[in-house]
Amino acid sequence: MTDTAVTVDTKTPTTAGKMPPAVRLPKPVQMVLMAGFRRSFLQRALKRFGPVFAINVPFLGRSVVVSDPALARQVFLASTDDLINVQPNLSRIFGPGSVFALDGKAHRARRKLLAPPFHGQSIKNYEKVIEEETLRESASWPEGREFPTLEPMNRITLNVILRTVFGADGAELDYLREIIPPWAKLGSRMATLPQPPFSTGRHSPWGRLAEFRRNFDRTVFALIDKAQADPRLEERTDILALLLRSTYEDGTPMSRQDVSDELLTLLGAGHETTASTLGWAFERLRRHPGVLARLVEENDGGGNEFRQATIQELQRNRTVIDFSGRHVAAPHFDLGNWRIPHGYTVMIAIANVHANAEVFPNPERFDPSRFIGTRTPTAWIPFGGGTRRCIGAAFANVEMDVVLRTVLQHFVIETDDAPDEKIHFRGIAFTPKDGGRIVVRRRETAGA
Ligand code: HEM
Repeated sequence: MTDTAVTVDTKTPTTAGKMPPAVRLPKPVQMVLMAGFRRSFLQRALKRFGPVFAINVPFLGRSVVVSDPALARQVFLASTDDLINVQPNLSRIFGPGSVFALDGKAHRARRKLLAPPFHGQSIKNYEKVIEEETLRESASWPEGREFPTLEPMNRITLNVILRTVFGADGAELDYLREIIPPWAKLGSRMATLPQPPFSTGRHSPWGRLAEFRRNFDRTVFALIDKAQADPRLEERTDILALLLRSTYEDGTPMSRQDVSDELLTLLGAGHETTASTLGWAFERLRRHPGVLARLVEENDGGGNEFRQATIQELQRNRTVIDFSGRHVAAPHFDLGNWRIPHGYTVMIAIANVHANAEVFPNPERFDPSRFIGTRTPTAWIPFGGGTRRCIGAAFANVEMDVVLRTVLQHFVIETDDAPDEKIHFRGIAFTPKDGGRIVVRRRETAGA
């Protein structure tokens, strides 16, 4: 996009709060820019119009993009009556029983129900599973030969979330392990495409998604039957058991279909995001020998402060989910000095907020020490914010921490001055284009 290609909309009324300036390119052009060149499009529009501007794209419709940290916070903390979840959202892939589909009271009740496995001690219990899966996957890594880390990270995070959600391993989990990766790939691509109003046939992408869904539900219903027949159901700590034991305030349990929708949500939202960030971790460490050396030294001494700062910096410098959206349900929403009409989408441009030079000086630099000895700025929002803030944030953090710890303990990562991998959009997450390629050797001193 050239700067001359966009002009400020001067026709908007100036009474009682104004509409933000609008990108005036034709809608199909804006769609192409959003689909293929989103990061550069939003960054250039930010420079041209300032931190709040309007776009008009198919699927999300008329939208206001927000890149200012304070205004982003105002959106996150707004009343959930005024701003509901972005429409349409991922529930079109996960189903109407997913937390993504819920708002207001129903959303609060579901979040409460889902909270226990994502807090404190429960997460500590998963550390062993994460370490086991990392060791299992990395056992076959080649030495002295470059390989991409993204797919191995995807397998680790998928196995971890499967075990967390369903507890024990078994034939059903083997089956899910097989069918979920191709579904996730297809689902990511289709997530923002409108569904045609007519049948597209069994072999079309929509037909394949529907078939996956039938197979997934059949498997989950079998696991539900098994769990309900399990005399130890009351003691089990997996998420399936928890959902089956829970009831709404009126004493009714969740329907089997809602349980299945919610489990698919956790499997879908809970593995590619974390894997993509881990892929970036290896991409960055290969190119930052100073950071890597400090991490190894700290790891050998048993610490994790710098590793935590590195994870924070990764999520800032290579943000994998770059927007969090809301829908204006109120007659209008006043944001700073702007007035946003009913029916608009409000998009927080997370990557733009993370590139704010006032909060993060030299934002393009990968520098974990910016997070040492200071409180995390409120402009750090990789997990979104407010009542819809990512439910798996603490889980993802522990997962990234344990995977990195385990790899650094067992492998030497070779560094060089290879050019940065390009940022590649996979439909939902942004990943390293070549898959986060590294060369490793096994450490002779590695512990068991
Ligand atoms: C690095 C990894 C992850 C990133 C960057 C990430 C990012 C996000 C973001 C940006 C949102 C939207 C928040 C908002 O609208 O304000 C979100 C929502 C959500 N995430 Fe994550 N996520 C990650 C890992 C996980 C994991 C591990 C799980 C589950 C095990 C998970 C489950 C969810 C769910 C269920 C929601 C919807 C919450 C709601 O609507 O109430 N995510 N995530």
